[in-house]
Amino acid sequence: TKLGALQYQGQPLRVYDPGYMNTICCTSKISYIDGDKGILEYRGIPIEELAEKSTFVEVAYLLINGELPSKSQLQEWDEKLRKHTFIHTDASQMMKSFRYDAHPMGMLISTLAAISTFHPEVNPALAGEGVYKNQDIVNKQIYRILGSLPTIASNSFRNRIGREHNMPHENMSYVENFLYMLDKLNEKEYKPHPKITRALEVLFILHAEHELNCSTAFVRHLSSSGVDIYTAIAGAAGALYGPKHGGANEAVLRMLEEIGDLKNIPQFIKDVKDRKKLLMGFGHRVYKNYDPRAKIVKQIAYQVFEITGKEPLIEIAIELEKIALSDPYFIQRKLYPNVDFYSGVIYRALGFPTDMFPVLFTIPRVAGWLAHWKEYLNDKENNIVRPRQNYIGPEKRNYLPVEQRK
Ligand code: ACO
Repeated sequence: TKLGALQYQGQPLRVYDPGYMNTICCTSKISYIDGDKGILEYRGIPIEELAEKSTFVEVAYLLINGELPSKSQLQEWDEKLRKHTFIHTDASQMMKSFRYDAHPMGMLISTLAAISTFHPEVNPALAGEGVYKNQDIVNKQIYRILGSLPTIASNSFRNRIGREHNMPHENMSYVENFLYMLDKLNEKEYKPHPKITRALEVLFILHAEHELNCSTAFVRHLSSSGVDIYTAIAGAAGALYGPKHGGANEAVLRMLEEIGDLKNIPQFIKDVKDRKKLLMGFGHRVYKNYDPRAKIVKQIAYQVFEITGKEPLIEIAIELEKIALSDPYFIQRKLYPNVDFYSGVIYRALGFPTDMFPVLFTIPRVAGWLAHWKEYLNDKENNIVRPRQNYIGPEKRNYLPVEQRK
């Protein structure tokens, strides 16, 4: 039922819902979650099947366009993304001017917002509100953003380690090219290890979409003002930067490091039960069962360790999980590992510094954001988002000249 249709004492019915915990603000066909059963589907396809059989580029197509692509559609889509991997030299130059120790997420967000100024011809503020009614223009922005994101992300990383930016390699797959740009000195013969590429590909698939999480809701919120998609994506990346959203796997890693040794786990669990600490990477607002993504991430960890060697923190993570899953405190509260419990350990094994973790979340999630943007543009009920508040401030009073104030 639409709330606006309901009346209370002759007025439209309004409800107080902090954090929009119980507010449905749109209809969507993109992803489905059943938190009690631990189910996640993209466009109806179980996440487990996509993680096993698909690629990130194909999943991005599915999310954004609604169906799996035919062979020729996939080829065309892949080519378009490859053609848009390069960023403007001025944007690259601008990135070089960040402080040497700037956070990669700060650089990524600022660059995405700055790129909006490179394309005034498709900015609704300048080109007119109707500009996104043209499907070709919408698609072009999607190719540009998805295509160039790994380049912007890798530039952020390269700045951080004080190295030159690497050029994209057009003959490599999306994930392969990202790893290539991060790592090597543009030696044409260098190829990232296929098992590492596949592991990151699966992590990208798992992180691509999760219905109206904080950042995705924000893309819709910003788009409702009619702002250009670059600014909307930059804003959503800002939401994801927050430790309560994209920063949880970093917090897991810090927790594992703090525990430091298997013998310290019982004391840590005691502290959690005494409410002195949180078991980071456990619990979820929607999943009250094992997060389906966490199961897959745990398997990937071992595939990565075959190449990188075992990350010592994994032993602590596994023991923590074992104890927590057999303890009535966690069972009663339906606290299970979420996607972040093991992903940080994998990123650490791959050699990523912790401040790159939210960047590794942002790259794939942009596919979900763009899917929601496109769906939003075609939604006839896409009113500007404007929640109401419950005013509890002072009643009407007069202005007091400064001489009369105490
Ligand atoms: N460790 C210990 N206890 C917990 C945890 C945890 N991680 N999470 C919830 N609880 C307890 C609460 O204290 C509460 O206990 P009580 O009923 O005795 O008061 C009970 O479990 C229910 O908790 P809520 O806070 O109601 O659960 P909610 O759904 O609101 O919170 C959240 C979900 C925020 C994710 C929480 O579980 C948490 O903080 N987890 C750790 C941080 C984390 O891993 N975040 C990543 C989420 S996944 C993502 O963003 C991609």
